[in-house]
Amino acid sequence: MNKKEKIEDLENKILDLVDEYTKIRHAKPDFIPEISNVPVNGRVFNSDEVKELVKASLEFWLTDGEYSEKFSEKMSNFLNMKFVRLVNSGSSANLVALSSLTNKKIKNNLNSGDEVVTSAVGFPTTVNPIFQNNLIPVFVDSEIGTYNPNPEDIIEACGPETKAIMLAHTLGNPVEIQKLKDFCADKNIWLIEDNCDALGSKYEDKLTGTFGDISTLSFYPAHHITMGEGGAVITNSTKLKLSIDSFRDWGRDCWCMSGHDDTCGKRFDWQLGELPYGYDHKFTYSNIGYNLKATDLQASIGYKQMDKLDDFILSRKKNWEKINTFIEDKQDFFIPHMKTKNSEPSWFGYALTVKENDKFTRDDIVKYLNENRIATRLMFGGNLVRQPAYKNKKFKTYKELNNADIVMKSSFWIGVYPGLSEEMIDYILNKFDIFLTK
Ligand SMILES: Cc1ncc(COP(=O)(O)O)c(C=O)c1O
Repeated sequence: MNKKEKIEDLENKILDLVDEYTKIRHAKPDFIPEISNVPVNGRVFNSDEVKELVKASLEFWLTDGEYSEKFSEKMSNFLNMKFVRLVNSGSSANLVALSSLTNKKIKNNLNSGDEVVTSAVGFPTTVNPIFQNNLIPVFVDSEIGTYNPNPEDIIEACGPETKAIMLAHTLGNPVEIQKLKDFCADKNIWLIEDNCDALGSKYEDKLTGTFGDISTLSFYPAHHITMGEGGAVITNSTKLKLSIDSFRDWGRDCWCMSGHDDTCGKRFDWQLGELPYGYDHKFTYSNIGYNLKATDLQASIGYKQMDKLDDFILSRKKNWEKINTFIEDKQDFFIPHMKTKNSEPSWFGYALTVKENDKFTRDDIVKYLNENRIATRLMFGGNLVRQPAYKNKKFKTYKELNNADIVMKSSFWIGVYPGLSEEMIDYILNKFDIFLTK
């Protein structure tokens, strides 16, 4: 055997062992009612992902590289979007997305003090980049049931200072995004979709994450596909892609992939600002950037998860429908989760709001479910402006945030992820029945 053959032979042996190991070590345990946990979300994987991760570790490239490119290509085909730039989390994706619009090379760039309209109900790192970029968030209330702000409120909240709208599709339920896209195009306002919880959701038959100037994804294990930690920033614009890369990669002006040099063909031939002529483009910085790249190890897992995405989406929809059919019958107590008109959500979870009643509160049922090993989550930060992090921070609110307060007090959600078997869903619904008839 020559060296190449020897390496191949060893790799095959290693991967066969990994396959055998994973099938034993990570075999799905049987579900035992009352004893097994019913998680709200989690990793769904088999030896495909573990083998690919081991392959990537044997290659030992470690940083952003070919796996990132291969993953991005699959995601870009799925979304039918030109550029998918991998980062190390959904939060980083949001930070890079908004920061990239502050780049002075971008026409109509964001400047300190500009307003960004967003939702008060949601995850903190959808709005944190607004503060982090010295912009001013304008918080809008959400509807109970869809948990998204309605587009009319968003549009009315936009004033002369508004330069961007940044919104998440809450729990996979699409915002009425086409109206916002049209409005933004008309008013020259940037639209950023936090699509972290909605991979595969459709609005008017078109995938969410493809409407905004930029959209983002998260690959934390709770999300539709995982790579442990990871995220992506997505755009169709070449200019924005360059800005995204710059903010992701130290603020540099150069756009070479890591491990590559002189992609522009004039690495030592640029004359930029006050720099000496020919100053190495690789070390020229045009933005106050970060380093938020993901590694090829993460990307290798996502690369394999992509092959399962269609099945994952179907399973989320099926689980959600089953829970919804049950909860729709319990409207004395709950407001069921409602999908946005003209949408086909790829659900992140099933949300409920407990109606005022004299039997129980949201906290009572959440406690009961958890005692029965059924995990629950609150609607992220509830009314974000009530969170300690935002005390004394500069922000505006559009009208009252009454529904956000209701969400904070009375809403919660349960899982619909593909790791939940039919037996588990039956168990959840049976526990609801027992609780409601107590
Ligand atoms: C809507 C939304 N945006 C952003 C994030 C942040 O993603 P990550 O945990 O990958 O930073 C989350 C996290 O779940 C989220 O739900």
